[in-house]
Amino acid sequence: MKRHISFILNGEKVETDAEDHWNLLHLLREVFELKGTKDGCGSGECGACTVVIDGKAVNSCLFPVSEAEGRSVITIEGLRQPDGDLHPLQKAFVEHGAVQCGYCSPGMIMSAYALLQENHEPSEDEIKDGIEGNLCRCTGYVKIVEAIRSVAALSKDFRERARGE
Ligand code: FES
Ligand code: FES
Repeated sequence: MKRHISFILNGEKVETDAEDHWNLLHLLREVFELKGTKDGCGSGECGACTVVIDGKAVNSCLFPVSEAEGRSVITIEGLRQPDGDLHPLQKAFVEHGAVQCGYCSPGMIMSAYALLQENHEPSEDEIKDGIEGNLCRCTGYVKIVEAIRSVAALSKDFRERARGE
């Protein structure tokens, strides 16, 4: 059965018809053509499909489209800066060599984004907890954690300068 849904996608109100049995991942990739959100396992195991819904990192492959109604959904495409530049998290992943095959990277970055919205100064353990649902089968998590830490340090620096410290 089809239903009409409307929600906020990367800061803009969108509406569309969707089949009840679709998950949000399908809607994002096939209807809105946002291919940055990856389809990995399709069963909540890998985190490649992670998006941020109302501030929380969520596996979009398990998220029914009907539940998107009225919510705010951010995908990796939504992190693009107003001037078209990459988000500092994306830059940090590139600079720290944290993008290897790259398949897990969008989901990993979205989990890190959700974590940093909630916790500006996460410890290494908190970062590891924040990305525990995201699997990377390449060379491990050291560079990924370093990249996320570097952004946390950067934003701390900005906040301190803004306070005149
Ligand atoms: S594709 Fe959603 S968790 Fe793997
Ligand atoms: S960079 Fe290859 S799975 Fe993560």
